[in-house]
Amino acid sequence: MLSSALLLVLAYLLGSVSGSLLLGGLRGVDVRRQGSGNAGGTNAFRALGWRFALGVVAIDVGKGALAAGLALALAPAEGAVAPLVLAYGAIVLAVAGHTWPLFYGFRGGKGAATLVGGLAVVWPGALPVLLLVWLACIVLTGYVGLATMLAAGVLVPLAWFGGADPMRLAFALAALVFIVFNHRDNVRRLVHGCENRFERARVLHR
Ligand code: G3P
Repeated sequence: MLSSALLLVLAYLLGSVSGSLLLGGLRGVDVRRQGSGNAGGTNAFRALGWRFALGVVAIDVGKGALAAGLALALAPAEGAVAPLVLAYGAIVLAVAGHTWPLFYGFRGGKGAATLVGGLAVVWPGALPVLLLVWLACIVLTGYVGLATMLAAGVLVPLAWFGGADPMRLAFALAALVFIVFNHRDNVRRLVHGCENRFERARVLHR
């Protein structure tokens, strides 16, 4: 059993272990100096290929799942905060750690993979829908950032039509706002028609 505050600090520290910056560091590459400049799986793929990106995504998803799982498993039995609420809080802190990592000068990624890892623990039913929307958007447009924002947008109706649990709904709304905020450069590039695009993935307007 650990105190709630300790579990939240642990979640932030876990989130601060950035997959792309950790693995990139081992190869002497800072992905923040490449491609979109984002410390995430997509940019790791651009910079160093799919094998490398797979490792990055595994770490970034894994730390979100670990933070939520530890909160659920180790929440104090008589604590003021219910374990599930603590798990949602841990996801927020892990995503914050990924975005503003303590170990990498507070310049990290956009948090989507870490969010997905957390959702796999607290709301696994949402994942197939998110994945479907995400993949469909990438195949249709070639824009990963757009796909990620759309997938985050789907969380809100999913929460609403899935019983409108207040905590889930609040989390979905917060996640959407945060993900769009973190993708503000992608939005700017989309508006100006210069967003990075995976040409081989898209099927629209080839
Ligand atoms: O999660 C990041 C992804 O949605 C976009 O990455 O590198 O194209 O900004 P990037």
